[in-house]
Amino acid sequence: MVRVLEVRRDTPSVSTLVLDKKVRPEYGQFFMLWIAGAGEKPYVCSRSGGNMEVTVKRTGPFSEQLAAIKKGDIVGIRGPYGNGHFQVTGRKPCFVAGGLGIVPLLPVIEGMRDAAKGAYVILGAKTAKELIHLERVKKTGAEIHVATDDGSAGDQGFPPELFLKTLAGKNFDQVLCCGPEVMMYQILSIVLEKKIPAQFSLERYMKCGIGICGSCALDPTGLLVCRDGPVFRAEQLRGTEFGKHRRDAAGSKTKI
Ligand code: FES
Repeated sequence: MVRVLEVRRDTPSVSTLVLDKKVRPEYGQFFMLWIAGAGEKPYVCSRSGGNMEVTVKRTGPFSEQLAAIKKGDIVGIRGPYGNGHFQVTGRKPCFVAGGLGIVPLLPVIEGMRDAAKGAYVILGAKTAKELIHLERVKKTGAEIHVATDDGSAGDQGFPPELFLKTLAGKNFDQVLCCGPEVMMYQILSIVLEKKIPAQFSLERYMKCGIGICGSCALDPTGLLVCRDGPVFRAEQLRGTEFGKHRRDAAGSKTKI
């Protein structure tokens, strides 16, 4: 059980909680966060080292309760979990983030230190107001390309379109991606065709977080997102249900 030290409002629908707990997970590993009366859900740290920070978007009953938490409140955490994490292996990596997808990628970019100047970041959001952690990304020195659905900041369009256009003039040797699964699936198709090494952070309904319940299974491989991910290489996702189906709270398959 840990105390909330600070709550920062990042955008109208996104907040960051700073917790009284020092952690240093591998990039992309997740923690299960518990709120009394609401249960628990997986979250990735939005900063590496120092006090644990969790960035939360209000999307449903649990995240509404988490976002309503105030300085001094108590939450429960367990973790870190997951054996698949982000690793920078290229000198010219491209980071593709949609919405909250920048959260697990940002500590990776910051961890590159001076080498981040060779990185390229495609940062997508619905509107300018919903761009998350843009100032922190700028501080890394990486080249940034912003895209919004409505054109209120950067180019109007979606990250996969920009990625495809950008590929024509850049020679990326690696792609690291996180965002809505529909977006990631499009990026996956491109990198598999172009044979660019890539890593993707997946989100699934998680109950146990430790490989027991099967709710996060990636059919037909038997891979579990909580145990074998949440970050997977592109080749691991080829031919799976990624981009097509996921399980809901009852364990039934639903379309993405
Ligand atoms: S959440 Fe239970 S097996 Fe992954």
